[in-house]
Amino acid sequence: MEIVKRHIKLTRLVACLAFLMFFATPSSAQESVEAEVTEDLSQYQTESYKKGRSIFKSKCASCHKLDKKFIGPGLSNIGDKREVEWLQEWIKDNGAFRASGDADAIAVFNEYGGVVMSAFPELSNEDIDAILEYTKVGEKKKVGAVAEASEEEQEGSDAWMVYLVTLIIVLGILWVFFKSDNGFLKIVSVIILILLLVYYGFSALMNLDVNEGYQPIQPIAFSHKIHAGDNKIECQYCHSSAKHSKTSGIPSVNVCMNCHLLIQEYDGDVTAEHNKEFYDGEIAKLLDAAGYDEEGQYDGKLEPIKWVRVHNLPDFVYYNHSQHVNVAGLDCAKCHGPVEEMEEVYQYSPLTMGWCIDCHKETQVDLKGNEYYANIHKQLAAKYGVNKVTVAQLGGKECGKCHY
Ligand code: HEC
Ligand code: HEC
Ligand code: HEC
Ligand code: HEC
Ligand code: HEC
Ligand code: HEC
Repeated sequence: MEIVKRHIKLTRLVACLAFLMFFATPSSAQESVEAEVTEDLSQYQTESYKKGRSIFKSKCASCHKLDKKFIGPGLSNIGDKREVEWLQEWIKDNGAFRASGDADAIAVFNEYGGVVMSAFPELSNEDIDAILEYTKVGEKKKVGAVAEASEEEQEGSDAWMVYLVTLIIVLGILWVFFKSDNGFLKIVSVIILILLLVYYGFSALMNLDVNEGYQPIQPIAFSHKIHAGDNKIECQYCHSSAKHSKTSGIPSVNVCMNCHLLIQEYDGDVTAEHNKEFYDGEIAKLLDAAGYDEEGQYDGKLEPIKWVRVHNLPDFVYYNHSQHVNVAGLDCAKCHGPVEEMEEVYQYSPLTMGWCIDCHKETQVDLKGNEYYANIHKQLAAKYGVNKVTVAQLGGKECGKCHY
């Protein structure tokens, strides 16, 4: 008896040690990666860099890139090419500057075929200094990729650890059950085993048909990151019915061709995974669907693009986009996540009933400027004895609102 007990203690000790070691290793590896990254990142962290980057992105990026010619010249290190005073005058009002007869200003204007750059009289000299700092330092790229990769690894090792710990526990229980004579220990181990089974069984059942993260392969590798992110195209330019109707809809080929009649080659940033040839090939598929042959001649052979649906609620649920986007004023990102960073869209939210209801319980209805709601609000506020009314209190938990 005595020997068996000591044996158990020993195995427990070993198990605990193993457990601690597994926790300790990946996190210390993570720390050292972080240390390296922060050192490199400091130049991207100054206030003026951040300010310059954000002004550049919002006011200049539609016509300028850093490293290459776009509609205007590439602006990387432009501070080395021109005097600061020259740049200030040019950026604030290039038209007036040219009219004053500055030779360089007139030359660069002619070089770009007389395309007019907008004037930015609202920018101060500090703003312009910040922009220049950004054009000098540039974007962080490789460092970001390292950080992301290490995060992914971290996630992977976590899942692996959970399985291992579970395995150790189950083995421990089996060992006690078959080898030990201690009746009490046996009962306890059986109870733990049943609890584990119920826990895993239940979470497996709860996850049936929950497609969070679902990312099907699309007929064209259309990138939201390139369109909505890099090129800042509004979500509703393409998903124009989100405001007015039940569905958001997927844009037709015609909408794509508004831009792609002109853009037939890809000239933007590339990644290790996808190079220029890859993106050109994808645009070629679009042109083909829109009825253009390989020489760029219109042959009229139209073919709808068969996009694969990512989000799909069961037929017995009623969900309405305009109610949420227009009436409630919710951001797309609230439910769809950072779509503008997704190379290909995936399902960000679980879309379960609990997910809908949780938000209805938390979200207060904005009643400003709406008489109908203002009246209901008074009555409900009195009924619940509160000041704020949530969607749930307005009826957002009633079965009939979401189920046909
Ligand atoms: C509507 C498009 C457009 C926008 C927006 C724009 N630019 Fe330009 N920019 C041009 C064009 C085109 C040129 C080339 C000269 C010309 O045609 O006037 C140019 C030229 C320049 C030059 C001169 C480059 C050289 O080689 O001398 C600088 C500097 C410059 N832009 C900075 C900016 C900054 C900073 C912003 C944002 C605050 C900005 N631009 C926004 C179109 C634009
Ligand atoms: C240039 C046009 C365009 C823009 C801009 C655009 N989208 Fe899309 N979106 C599409 C196309 C085409 C698809 C279908 C292909 C796919 O799923 O990748 C799509 C699919 C989606 C889907 C998945 C639909 C499904 O099948 O369930 C969501 C969600 C979505 N877009 C949200 C957004 C959001 C949010 C934005 C703004 C940040 C945005 N889109 C901007 C064209 C666009
Ligand atoms: C309150 C959450 C929520 C918000 C906010 C929201 N969506 Fe959706 N979206 C959904 C759900 C849920 C579905 C699945 C609908 C279905 O299967 O019937 C969906 C589906 C879609 C689809 C697939 C086509 C369709 O209409 O079924 C697109 C595209 C889309 N959303 C784009 C957008 C855009 C663009 C915005 C912002 C203007 C937006 N969504 C805002 C929850 C939301
Ligand atoms: C408002 C303008 C606009 C619309 C509308 C538009 N695009 Fe684009 N598209 C762009 C720009 C800008 C680029 C990047 C070009 C570059 O950087 O050289 C691009 C790049 C692409 C690429 C190559 C990169 C990638 O995403 O794989 C494909 C493929 C593409 N578009 C397909 C489509 C399809 C399909 C539609 C319609 C659903 C569409 N585009 C609608 C402006 C647009
Ligand atoms: C991010 C928060 C959020 C999520 C997630 C959400 N909703 Fe809503 N929903 C709202 C808000 C806010 C309103 C109130 C709009 C208004 O002012 O009438 C609302 C209203 C509604 C209404 C009208 C209720 C009424 O009393 O008239 C229905 C129906 C509805 N939602 C269905 C759904 C369904 C189905 C889902 C899940 C697929 C869902 N919602 C997910 C925020 C959300
Ligand atoms: C805010 C919207 C909303 C309300 C209110 C709501 N449901 Fe649901 N319900 C859903 C959604 C969305 C699904 C689909 C979930 C899925 O596919 O995982 C669903 C699924 C179901 C299912 C199928 C089982 C399942 O989980 O897939 C049943 C049964 C159900 N609801 C009953 C009810 C009853 C009863 C009520 C009233 C007490 C109610 N629902 C109120 C949105 C709602």
